[in-house]
Amino acid sequence: MKRLCAPHELAEGQSRGFEIAGDKLFAVRKDGRLFAYRNRCPHRGIPLEWLPDQFLDHSASLIQCATHGALFLIESGECVAGPCAGQALEALRCAEDGEGIWVAA
Ligand code: FES
Repeated sequence: MKRLCAPHELAEGQSRGFEIAGDKLFAVRKDGRLFAYRNRCPHRGIPLEWLPDQFLDHSASLIQCATHGALFLIESGECVAGPCAGQALEALRCAEDGEGIWVAA
């Protein structure tokens, strides 16, 4: 597992991007649960965000690709609207303890 950040550096309802050895990924904390995905839109294979750490839509209830607006469920990465509907983000195993947020890399 690789450490992404300290637990408090990803607040409830927030998303945050990371780069580990050239791999782009991001994490979201929602309802106290943690989710991590590879930062790669299944539509064009490009990173999802235009602004740093902005991976969610305005309601902060879905993950959004900034390029063509695809929307993904935070809990599963499934695309529910947009050009890649039915496809999914690649989920990464993640965990949290007192020292940090960790991802399987
Ligand atoms: S690249 Fe993400 S919706 Fe087109």
